[in-house]
Amino acid sequence: MKLTTKDAKNLLKEFSKNPQNKEWITHSICVGNCAYKIAKELGINANKARVLGYIHDIGKGIEGEEDHIVKGYVYIKSLGYDSEYANICLTHSYLNHDVNCTLGGIPNNIPYRTNFIKHHKYSIYEKVINICDLMCGTRPMTLEKRIIDIVTRRGLYPNSQYQIKEAFKLKKQIDKMLGYDLYELFPHIK
Ligand SMILES: [Fe+2]
Repeated sequence: MKLTTKDAKNLLKEFSKNPQNKEWITHSICVGNCAYKIAKELGINANKARVLGYIHDIGKGIEGEEDHIVKGYVYIKSLGYDSEYANICLTHSYLNHDVNCTLGGIPNNIPYRTNFIKHHKYSIYEKVINICDLMCGTRPMTLEKRIIDIVTRRGLYPNSQYQIKEAFKLKKQIDKMLGYDLYELFPHIK
């Protein structure tokens, strides 16, 4: 089943009843709106990109022991939506097909997740969400600023330099697809 913009907004609206969810919801809307802008320029389905941005962190609103990535994936699947919507919950934090290519520390080894990320072929939508997640706090900013923001809050780890290098490689890929610097789309962040 397809997840529409209306569905995504309704899901966020439901979670917004809990004030603790305010920050990640504002961030998710930022990611969705940035993804919409980039997708439009790339000539891909901008509405789909926005929906994926809106729901990528939805696991943060779900109680439970597992991390938000797994909780979001299981939740979107349980609602009967197509795999591509559930997958974004898994893929958005990892670059280079590697669960260790992430900020905020070395993740626990969850074999299902490690194998999924290793073998999954990232779609253009997933790459756009990866870059937007790295460009959005509660508002858009440059990768440089966002990465400093994350490492200031969560610390530097043995895998941080690896992730940062891959983040800039991804930006270069997106710049190339656009034919110009991605930041041109967000002149106020430069
Ligand atoms: Fe996020």
